[in-house]
Amino acid sequence: MTPNLSVVIGTLKLKNPLLVSSGTFGYAQEFVDFLDLNILGGIVTKTITLFPRQGNRPPRTCETPAGLLNSIGLENPGIKVFIQEKLPYFQKLKVPLIVSIAAQDEISEFVELAEKLDKERLVAAIELNISCPNVRHCTKKSNVKLIAQDAKATALVVKAVKKVTTKPIITKLSPNVTDITEIALAAEEAGSDGVSLVNTITAMAVDVEKRRPKLAMVIGGLSGPAIRPIAVRMVWETYKKVRIPIIGMGGIMDADSALEFILAGASAISVGTANFINPNVCSEILRGICGYMIRHRITSLERLRGAIMC
Ligand SMILES: Cc1cc2nc3c(=O)[nH]c(=O)nc-3n(C[C@H](O)[C@H](O)[C@H](O)COP(=O)(O)O)c2cc1C
Repeated sequence: MTPNLSVVIGTLKLKNPLLVSSGTFGYAQEFVDFLDLNILGGIVTKTITLFPRQGNRPPRTCETPAGLLNSIGLENPGIKVFIQEKLPYFQKLKVPLIVSIAAQDEISEFVELAEKLDKERLVAAIELNISCPNVRHCTKKSNVKLIAQDAKATALVVKAVKKVTTKPIITKLSPNVTDITEIALAAEEAGSDGVSLVNTITAMAVDVEKRRPKLAMVIGGLSGPAIRPIAVRMVWETYKKVRIPIIGMGGIMDADSALEFILAGASAISVGTANFINPNVCSEILRGICGYMIRHRITSLERLRGAIMC
């Protein structure tokens, strides 16, 4: 028996549900010596902005119990260099490419970025990173820090981007909110083809000997197994409210933790921090999901989605 693992997000067709998360897999080429990239359901790039960004000053990562704290600050070469130097590599791959984008100051930057990517044949879908906790003042007009903390601002961005591209749009949500389902619903109503959740959770660690914060920016975003139960809860709550597909992420380390998200309602799953520990982890997770389905005589992944009994 070969289980059917395929997933559809808008017009985006994935052969399996396993993605790699933005910011944890570079531009894919970095992982080619460790993993057969063609086994992946899809690849999400590091978030790209209109202009190059150096990111925040170091130290910008530190380990915490069962987690990783980072304040990279969206270091990236900018859209022009991305298209010229990073994109051509994807010609060689048989994996859908999802390009993550973010604005530095104005919502209109999302539109400009989406217009440029719409022209690129190798781009299968666009992920809107409206939830990076390490960039301040994503929108000058709004008094909130993150677009993803405001349902109206979320809808505004999604609607504006949908107008300029026919590529599927995935909106990446922040766990740093009271009710993530309000934001997910706003994205859905505005036309988003899917939502991905969660981005990192704002957090802080202190070096007690130096009496200093461990990150130069003081506050960063927490990822890894420490955040998994929060992320699974948010996927479950969102699954009960929206009809569009959910890409679940946050601390997926193995097949069981990936299955937790699928059973809680995720159509696809995304692996982030685990790639830093074991760059081949995705092939192990995929094998484990297939093994589970065969063991439980489940022929199609759809039958597992949201199938927790409670
Ligand atoms: C070092 C690092 C850099 C990240 N950069 C981005 C980014 O550029 N854009 C984005 O949307 N998310 C970024 N993330 C968040 C991840 O994509 C993911 O949402 C989060 O880490 C939770 O998944 P995980 O626990 O499996 O890592 C980053 C995470 C880490 C650890």
